[in-house]
Amino acid sequence: MRFRVAVLPGDGIGPEVIAQATRVLAAAGRRFGHEFQLREGLIGGIAYDATGHPLPQATLDLCRSSDAVLLGAVGGPKWDKLPVHLRPEAGALLPLRKALDVYANLRPAVVFPALADASTLKREVVEGLDILVVRELTGGLYFGEKRREEIPGGQRAVDTMVYTTEEIRRVARRAFELARTRKKKLTSVDKANVLESSRLWREVVTELAKDYPDVELNHMLVDNCAMQLVRNPKQFDVILTENLFGDILSDQAAQLVGSLGMLPSASLGDGVGLYEPVHGSAPDIAGRQLANPIAAILSVALMLRYSFGLEEAALAVERAVAAVLEEGYRTADIMEPGRKQVGTTEMGRLIAEKVEKAA
Ligand code: IPM
Ligand code: MG
Repeated sequence: MRFRVAVLPGDGIGPEVIAQATRVLAAAGRRFGHEFQLREGLIGGIAYDATGHPLPQATLDLCRSSDAVLLGAVGGPKWDKLPVHLRPEAGALLPLRKALDVYANLRPAVVFPALADASTLKREVVEGLDILVVRELTGGLYFGEKRREEIPGGQRAVDTMVYTTEEIRRVARRAFELARTRKKKLTSVDKANVLESSRLWREVVTELAKDYPDVELNHMLVDNCAMQLVRNPKQFDVILTENLFGDILSDQAAQLVGSLGMLPSASLGDGVGLYEPVHGSAPDIAGRQLANPIAAILSVALMLRYSFGLEEAALAVERAVAAVLEEGYRTADIMEPGRKQVGTTEMGRLIAEKVEKAA
């Protein structure tokens, strides 16, 4: 089969991790007989420098005419002083998510057996961990009305958390469906003891649960969830939550795995899917062979699975990552005594080789 992939490397370590991710994608194509047609586009600071906007119309058109989008990372100190709407994060990343209407952001946190000691938490707490955070991605405080007002003695700043029944229902449906393919346990996280939007969230999720009698649903307040994630993370299977809570909890989940450099993501709506590592552009380590390409490579696995329905190829990529880690290869962020440290390119090469050659 033939698939069109829009590739947006972006800023900082984005290009170097994406180069390894596309190398692995090509290897999967050769092994399983699929053709991935890659078309590159500009996004972020590099796009601003070249065109005057961090999300050029040409990039949006490219994404909309593709079967999936692979994104590196955006942002860096060079563009931090621009007006908000031209900054890579607020001017490109958030509008891209909105434009593609990718309302369900999947952030799996899986502890690879070889990395059970890489977390700052005890081995027994994280060993075998496999959780999936489903974060609502196109609503809530990120997209609600914002404003500033002058008041005597200073200013007043307002952000609004808005959710409609339908916005909650569509992401919750995704989470229930995903839970069905896993351990059939869904924890919906909110702040229903304080926030009205959370009370609506809880009502909608509870109502929807009737359609999924095979999935065990429980509700948890977000502060408690933050605590439970470090106390006993293995109690969770799928965590469903709104945009800001999901932003925070997914970084926390990343630390259970040992490094943000290991965490992939898939952002899904009803059209084109967007795949990106959870980590940022890390300008401080860019170009030094220190970046871990595994988050980007695992994002390719998610693309194969969710956008292209190529489960076998997705598993081949995930198994190749596990095998290379088993052999003791590590990038700087997950290096431990007695292991073999390799650079970004070498890690990508080792994984691609395994994907292509595995029996
Ligand atoms: C993420 C990031 C973004 C977010 C930032 C860069 C706007 O933290 O993808 O988690 O908050 O969504
Ligand atoms: Mg974040």
